[in-house]
Amino acid sequence: MRSLDVEVTESARLYGDTHVLWMTRPPHLANATPGQFVMVYIGEHTDPLLGRAFSIHRTREGEQGPEFAVLFDVVGRGTEWLSRREPGDAVRVVGPLGRGFEPRERVQRMLLVGGGIGCAPLIWLADRLIEEGREVTLLLGGRTEAQIFPAAQLPPAVELIATTEDGSLGTRGLVTKPFEELLPWSDQVFACGPNRMFEAMHDVARRSGLRKPIQALLEGTMACGMGICYSCAVFPRRGGVRLICTDGPMFDLRDLY
Ligand code: FES
Repeated sequence: MRSLDVEVTESARLYGDTHVLWMTRPPHLANATPGQFVMVYIGEHTDPLLGRAFSIHRTREGEQGPEFAVLFDVVGRGTEWLSRREPGDAVRVVGPLGRGFEPRERVQRMLLVGGGIGCAPLIWLADRLIEEGREVTLLLGGRTEAQIFPAAQLPPAVELIATTEDGSLGTRGLVTKPFEELLPWSDQVFACGPNRMFEAMHDVARRSGLRKPIQALLEGTMACGMGICYSCAVFPRRGGVRLICTDGPMFDLRDLY
């Protein structure tokens, strides 16, 4: 797949250590769906010109035409470089890649569960589902308030429920408990976050005896994003090997654990 230089249109710290980067959207990203990702190439030359996978966080109509955004925590050299891009700078991207979320038709009550920066693709999914007239409850967990996506940035129709480990926002604890309470209400569940969150959700779902569809968007190290390097291999409970970048990143939670 061809890589392309896109232009940064906005770069801002959105909350805590989390940064949003808006860029011009090339035509071939127009058909992307929530849960798909792009490889963003970090660095101007070869140091450290590495591809990093970022979920597409949101899209919008900007002054120069369509734009898309990535959302990321500034945690190292690569993301620090990316956070310093300014409007007018060029960034090299490849995408859209992977298999995104697949909302069922004719179901109404959508439960979205995000851990930390795992909220990034869920925000665009929430935007889309609200546009379609569905009910959306967004359950977000973080260590502190600084890790929770701001309610003011969401469509007003989204019901936001937050949990924090230190109790600084919402209920103290993990997303597991509210997930358990909301699972019977939901028609379909979409999740993105760390593996331990998926394991806890799978345990809740199994104990509930409910067969609700739960789609999990896996985060993993991805060096190529195109099925070449095998850095993103996962080993589902039922055997075999799957690649997050090409078989996923969306998987049925029950196929993984
Ligand atoms: S990232 Fe290289 S095979 Fe998936």
